[in-house]
Amino acid sequence: EKGTYPHYMLKEIDEQPAVLRKIIQAYQGPDGNLQLEDETIGALTRADRIYIIAAGTSSHAGLVGKEYFEKLAGIPTEVHISSEFGYNMPLLSERPLFIFISQSGETADSRQVLVKVKEMGHPSLTVTNVAGSTLSRESDYTVLLHAGPEIAVASTKAYTAQIAVLAILASCAAEVKGHPAQFDLVHELGIAATAVETMIDRKEEMETISFDFLEMTRNAFFIGRGMDYHVSLEGALKLKEISYIQAEGFAGGELKHGTIALIEEGTPVFALATQAAVSANIRGNVKEVTARGAKACILSMEGTEEAGDRIVIPAVHPMLTPLVSVIPLQLISYYASLHRGCDVDQPRNLAKSVTVE
Ligand code: M6R
Repeated sequence: EKGTYPHYMLKEIDEQPAVLRKIIQAYQGPDGNLQLEDETIGALTRADRIYIIAAGTSSHAGLVGKEYFEKLAGIPTEVHISSEFGYNMPLLSERPLFIFISQSGETADSRQVLVKVKEMGHPSLTVTNVAGSTLSRESDYTVLLHAGPEIAVASTKAYTAQIAVLAILASCAAEVKGHPAQFDLVHELGIAATAVETMIDRKEEMETISFDFLEMTRNAFFIGRGMDYHVSLEGALKLKEISYIQAEGFAGGELKHGTIALIEEGTPVFALATQAAVSANIRGNVKEVTARGAKACILSMEGTEEAGDRIVIPAVHPMLTPLVSVIPLQLISYYASLHRGCDVDQPRNLAKSVTVE
């Protein structure tokens, strides 16, 4: 039920801090440490390479997950869009593990890949919000998101839940493989949940930004580098699916290789600059686009911010910034959809779960 909320999407955006806390609880053992079932851990640690298979927003969460598996657990990881994988399969490693990420657990494109890899005899793990869903039933292992039902077509809380759960998977695998912990994940996820709450309380500010940057526009760009690049893809998808504004997310460094030709007077560019290591580069990209007339909205983090940045999120661990930086982007899209009189929860031409290939 959406209760007093005008839309499910807004309710689901608001639920994110509680979802993150529930996930921490769900995967915390009696000693306070993160834990997973032994078989799941076994599957992860046996793999010499992980193949993440997903569609849409879930594939964007997968891109963040790849960073966790590689950087925390030292497992090489590839992310594939499920609709492409079936007929364009890469050369597989000797001991692959297939991880399917799907909120609904019913996405036909992903299921088709699952059927194929099962035939080939490879192990599979599904990360899903729906226990008993097709992908969960048909794969060897399941890890649940605990996000509660997601009704709005635009995925919000499932995305943050997927990122948190993937971080937990990677961190548990790292521990069993004897990789030294780089940070206290439980502690840092708690800090991130509080930061998400802070951003959710800044709705009025996000509505103003949405109005200032998107009121009249037909298109918008999202740029970032590293972690921020993954989130820029998600920001663009959210905006196009519910407001019908043509939006593109891309790596800041790619601007000069083509996209910059599209920048005109007043083109909105949302630039994510939460990563200290690439902050100077992305700010350089912002200069390139503003010199050509773009209107830039810089999103940075306490500690990476500079005067004039329009959105500054609270400081969180650099690997967990996607959990927080996506919140203002979700809200900006929500208000753009609302201001344009679009159907926020049921955008045209879209279904919540795509059960056809
Ligand atoms: O249920 P799934 O996670 O498998 O769904 C995948 C995509 O269809 C889904 O994420 C879609 O992109 C969302 N509508 C995006 O908000």
